[in-house]
Amino acid sequence: MLYNIIAIIASYLLGSISFSIVYARLFKGIDIRQHGSGNAGATNTLRILGKGPGILVFLLDFAKGTVAVLLGYWLSTNEWVPVLCGLAAIIGHNWPIWFRFKGGKGIATTVGAMAALAFWPALIAGILTIILIAITKYVSVGSLLFATLTPIFVAIFNFSWPLFGGTLIICLFAFVRHRSNIVKLLQGKENKLGTKKGM
Ligand code: G3P
Repeated sequence: MLYNIIAIIASYLLGSISFSIVYARLFKGIDIRQHGSGNAGATNTLRILGKGPGILVFLLDFAKGTVAVLLGYWLSTNEWVPVLCGLAAIIGHNWPIWFRFKGGKGIATTVGAMAALAFWPALIAGILTIILIAITKYVSVGSLLFATLTPIFVAIFNFSWPLFGGTLIICLFAFVRHRSNIVKLLQGKENKLGTKKGM
């Protein structure tokens, strides 16, 4: 039981390391949350700082989700624990203890956690998401598609209650965190990929 709790808390603390905030502060001396969409994530880093930093932040935020889930598998035999570790990393990313609880929308970390929890559902959802983003140029639409497809694919290919329940909660988080994107999409004001905004 102690190890389960340690794994979940460590995952939250790891998820709280918001790499977009760290990178922007360290290399550009800015708070990424005061630029572009105001989101502490890879998409906004790409928008404000360019492709290289955007990809790097995506990979690091992705890795947080994967490492958290692997930590859960390593420290526990209970099948709920890796799922809860993935969730804790996403909660950390969205509400980071190190950055006054103002973080991102959790998608890169969600993809990383999902890749470790349910590889094939994550891969198929990921491919469809990339296609949708390439067509629409809206990362937010792709993010919401990924969050919606994962519980559906988990139900079809990898069903287990922890995984299904966990991915449903992750999906809920994604919609809650994308409220402003949904409003902008409905108003036709959402940022498209490729529209770079200066600092
Ligand atoms: O994963 C975040 C993405 O879906 C939207 O980011 O900066 O356009 O709000 P942003």
